[in-house]
Amino acid sequence: MIPLSDHDMLAQRNHDEESRQSFVNDFRIHLASNVFPGNFPTYYNRVLPNFIKEKGREPETRHEVRKVMTHDPYYSFWSAMQRNSQEMIWDSVIDSVERQLPELIEKSRKAGDKGSLTLDPDLETPKYHVAADIHLQPGAYHSDQIEDDVAAGAMYDWGTYIYSMGGLGTGNNALGQITNGFFKNEYPDKKPLRILDMGCTIGGSITYWAQQHPDTECYAIDVGAPVLRYGHARAEALGAAVHFSQQNAEHTDFEDESFDIVMSHILLHETSRTAIQNVFDESYRLLKPGGIMMHMDLPQAHGQQPLEGFLFEWEIYNNNEHFFAQLRDMDMAELCRKAGFKDENIHPKSAGSFWMDDQTPYADDGFEFPITIGIK
Ligand SMILES: C[S@@+](CC[C@H](N)C(=O)[O-])C[C@H]1O[C@@H](n2cnc3c(N)ncnc32)[C@H](O)[C@@H]1O
Repeated sequence: MIPLSDHDMLAQRNHDEESRQSFVNDFRIHLASNVFPGNFPTYYNRVLPNFIKEKGREPETRHEVRKVMTHDPYYSFWSAMQRNSQEMIWDSVIDSVERQLPELIEKSRKAGDKGSLTLDPDLETPKYHVAADIHLQPGAYHSDQIEDDVAAGAMYDWGTYIYSMGGLGTGNNALGQITNGFFKNEYPDKKPLRILDMGCTIGGSITYWAQQHPDTECYAIDVGAPVLRYGHARAEALGAAVHFSQQNAEHTDFEDESFDIVMSHILLHETSRTAIQNVFDESYRLLKPGGIMMHMDLPQAHGQQPLEGFLFEWEIYNNNEHFFAQLRDMDMAELCRKAGFKDENIHPKSAGSFWMDDQTPYADDGFEFPITIGIK
C-alpha cells in the first residue's frame, strides 16, 4: 500500500498499525478484483435462469434483481466479506488515532491562521446524520467525544484512503482534482474570486482548490465540528488558506450573491430529499450573477441495467448510505429549475478520473461522476 503523503496532522502509524491497514487495503483490492466479478456468472448462470423459469421473463428493475440476488450464496458471501472489510477499515485506523489524539488536538489548537475556523456549538446536526453512522464510521462526522475532538477527521483521512484503495490519491484530494480539472476545461476564462465548498469534511477537495488558486478566497462548510477542526489544521499544515465554518448547507449565514462558485463533492447523497432542494436553493441565493453551481455526486439509476443498478446500490443497504437511495432517481434539472436557474443555464455533465492531475491507481479507469451545473 502506497501511504498517504505526510502532513503534520496525519496520524502516524507504528509497524503493526501500518501492517494491519495494508492488509485491509489489500483485502479490499482482492475482493474488488477477484471476488466481486464472480457476481456476474452467478447472476447469468444461476439467478437469471431461475428467475425466467419462475416468471417467464427477465427482471425489469434493479429492485427485482435485489429480491433474488440477495438470497444467492455467492452474492451473500461476497457481501458479507465486503461488509467485514468496511468494519475492518475503522478498526485498523482507530488505534493510531486514539494513541495520538491528545497530540493531534494540541496541534489543531495551535494551527496557523492563513485561513480560519469558526464553530457553532448550537448548530443542530441534521436528522439524516444522526440516523445512522454513515459508512459505519463510529460516531460518523459529527460526534465529539472529548473537548476539541479531532478524531473523526483523523480517522476519515486514513479511512477514506483505504476505503478507496488509494483511489483518492496520496493527497486524499482526487475529487478536488476532478472538479478543478473539469472547471479549468469548461470555463478556461473564468477567474473565481470567492468559492464555497459545501459538505467539505476534512477539506480534501477545497484545500486542493486553494493550492491551485492561491489568489482565490476559499470557504468551506460542514455540520461536523471534529472534521472541521481537523480539516482546518490539515489545510494550515499544507500551507493552504481556507476559511472553514460549521454551517448547514441548507441555510448558511453568507450574504446573497457573494460567491463565484458554489460546489460540493459527494455531499448530496448523504442528505435528505428536502435537504437537496434546500442546498440547490441556497446555492442559487449565494451565487453572484454569472456564478457557477457545481454539485458532483454519485451516479444515478437512469441508464443503468437492472443488475448493474442493483450491484451499484450495495452501499445503500449494507454501508449505512440509506439516503443515497432517493438521489438515485431524482431529477436534478428539475431541482435546478425550482431553485431559480433558467433552463438554458442548467447543464447535466459528468466529470471523471480523467481530470486527475496525478497518478492514482484508478486515474485511468474512466469512472465518471455526474456533475450538476447551474449558471445564475
Ligand atoms: C462524503 S462527505 C464529503 C466529502 C468531501 N466533500 C470531500 O471532498 O472530501 C459528506 C460530508 O457532508 C457533510 N454534510 C452532510 N449534510 C450536510 C449539510 N446539510 N450541511 C453541511 N454539511 C453536510 C457531512 O458532515 C460530511 O462531512
